[in-house]
Amino acid sequence: MRITTKLTLIICMLLILLFAALGLNSYRGDHSLIVNAAVDKARIISQQIIETREYLSATVTTSIAGSTPDLIPQVAASKIAKLITRDTPYYVRQVSLRFRNPANRPDEYEAGELRRFTEGTPQESYRIVPHNGKDALRYLLPMKAEKSCLVCHDSYRTSPPFVQKRFPEGHPSYGYREGDVIGAISVSVPMSELNRTIRSNLVQDLLYEISILGLLLLATGLIIHRAILAPVSRVATGISEATKSGNFATRIAARSQDEIGRLVESFNELMAELERRTRQRAESDERYRNFIEIAQSPIVTFLPDGKIVIANNKAEKLFGLTREELLGQCIFEFMMDPSMVRQGIEDYFSAGSSQMLGNASRQTLRDVCGREIDCEIVISVSQSEHEAMFTAILRTTT
Ligand code: HEC
Repeated sequence: MRITTKLTLIICMLLILLFAALGLNSYRGDHSLIVNAAVDKARIISQQIIETREYLSATVTTSIAGSTPDLIPQVAASKIAKLITRDTPYYVRQVSLRFRNPANRPDEYEAGELRRFTEGTPQESYRIVPHNGKDALRYLLPMKAEKSCLVCHDSYRTSPPFVQKRFPEGHPSYGYREGDVIGAISVSVPMSELNRTIRSNLVQDLLYEISILGLLLLATGLIIHRAILAPVSRVATGISEATKSGNFATRIAARSQDEIGRLVESFNELMAELERRTRQRAESDERYRNFIEIAQSPIVTFLPDGKIVIANNKAEKLFGLTREELLGQCIFEFMMDPSMVRQGIEDYFSAGSSQMLGNASRQTLRDVCGREIDCEIVISVSQSEHEAMFTAILRTTT
């Protein structure tokens, strides 16, 4: 697998994890943000209603309230609340455990909170709870009885006649003292509304994060590609091409001073060294060829299997073949009895030395026309790193 593919796979997996984590984190952040904003809004609405109610309670006289029931603080505040929350998902009620109007009867959740306000600390409360089968954010702000409220909420006796008329003596809505929790503003928002906002926020957040990360990754990928992958791949190609062609002239420009720069430099040094050695070897081969060319005897160099690799002019004449024809032929084919030479070579490889090597022996050769030639033959061995080569110097005795 290519490094780019591996890296891409690993990065993709990490990205998925990262986005899951980011998504979760954004969701949490957005959720609390949106819920807090909703609570803020509910608080403001409730406070406005309480202010309105207190203002009306302090300014509207009982005789006006008696003749214009729409100006009874509760009634006016309810209408104003409706106006404030028109076209919003916020739903506002004003509830009391000791309600006068059955429309203000608290539901189960409100009743629980009102009891807590009356018994414990009267402080705003909010929670996400099921409401009419769906989750809703429910906010309650307790309302305390002010002095002005007691005009109609203290005792039956002190209340104005229009209140007395509607709520006979003994009605539970009488008997409040200043500071008592008389009811609460109850605001509810369906969570489906808030979730919609959370979702669209989340999508926006993720798109933003994805594009930033995408750009970042793209930039990193390009840098990694340019700085590491491309030069490494050039070095690899250079090596494999040089191995195939035997041409070590390739050099790569080092663009940096870092580890990759050093790798490229080492590659160039290696190529230079190989090129130098190849040239040296070619030169020494050339010298050897020139040397055997001026020798007076036929000389043939062959591999352990007998394959002729170098031959001089005298050898061509002896065998009656041109150099092209001679090279690649097996020297044993030209010997009447090659067994001794073969044995000598075998001994050399098995025992490390052989009686035959370096010592003259007699051999009858056969040229291309089948003519027999008696020769004295001396074979020497030259051992290079990888292979042994045998050189036979021949001297005709007939
Ligand atoms: C002029 C008389 C009057 C004054 C002043 C007054 N109220 Fe009321 N209040 C009423 C009447 C009448 C109702 C019933 C309204 C209806 O029919 O919905 C009511 C209802 C309520 C309710 C709704 C629960 C229920 O009993 O149905 C609350 C809560 C409440 N009043 C609190 C207050 C507070 C707090 C103040 C002072 C800021 C106040 N009221 C001042 C006459 C008054």
